[in-house]
Amino acid sequence: MAYPGQSEGSDLILADLSLDIRDGEFFVLVGPSGSGKSTLLKIVAGTETQTEGQVSTHGAPVKGPSRQRGMVFQSIDEPLFEWLTVAQNVGFGPSVAGKTRAQCREIAAQYIALVGLKGHETKFPHELSGGMKQRVQIARTLAAEPDLVLFDEPFAALDALTRRVLQKELIAIWQATGRTMVYVTHDIREAVILGQRVAVMSRGPRANITRSYDIDLPYPRDDLDGRFADAVRAIEADIERESSSQWD
Ligand SMILES: Nc1ncnc2c1ncn2[C@@H]1O[C@H](COP(=O)(O)OP(=O)(O)OP(=O)(O)O)[C@@H](O)[C@H]1O
Ligand SMILES: [Mg+2]
Repeated sequence: MAYPGQSEGSDLILADLSLDIRDGEFFVLVGPSGSGKSTLLKIVAGTETQTEGQVSTHGAPVKGPSRQRGMVFQSIDEPLFEWLTVAQNVGFGPSVAGKTRAQCREIAAQYIALVGLKGHETKFPHELSGGMKQRVQIARTLAAEPDLVLFDEPFAALDALTRRVLQKELIAIWQATGRTMVYVTHDIREAVILGQRVAVMSRGPRANITRSYDIDLPYPRDDLDGRFADAVRAIEADIERESSSQWD
């Protein structure tokens, strides 16, 4: 992968990267800043086109954005529709998909309940806290009923307590909906709370996936468990090695 405007022969952002996401899996990607995690998500989402190589879902090549692949961003990057209520924001995807008003209302109600926002349907985004906005964003993405949900550091701007609550809820949502989740984070503890598999991306340019860990611990995960701490330490050591490799 190279971005347009990069000079001829300059290094690729991503290179020799091969990744298989399993149906229904909770997959987490961590790695040094600037390595290409967001770029990889955008390529999978179809909002960015790779210069070489291919991405396919269920055997069909990804040729652009699709309702089958939803994206949840850090809130500062992708605000909600400020002029729509919570229910209208969440019902937006179904309405674009041609559902009737009654169907949109029903789907919105279902996903608003799933993310714990019942009673807030008629509020506007500016009346919500950061954590509530992220819940709306998650509900809005899920309401479009994508097979695959891509998350780019969705909780990074939230306080630690809210983040912990939302991590727990996201696991419950994943278990309730059976969607495939691909989640990028800088927070290694969060990676081990969430992921069935945690992959580490190398420092770019020419970033790829250096290692992947199967986190074989039951949900909800207990961070006081010795195996939890072992996994966090191993992944942290990997990232430190990657981040410092420029000085080798
Ligand atoms: N639109 C763009 N045009 C040119 N270069 C870009 C563009 N977007 C990203 N890059 C470059 O691609 C590389 C990877 O960026 P990317 O945002 O994917 O990294 P990241 O791993 O998500 O970083 P972070 O952890 O800081 O979010 C960086 O060197 C960045 O400068
Ligand atoms: Mg990023």
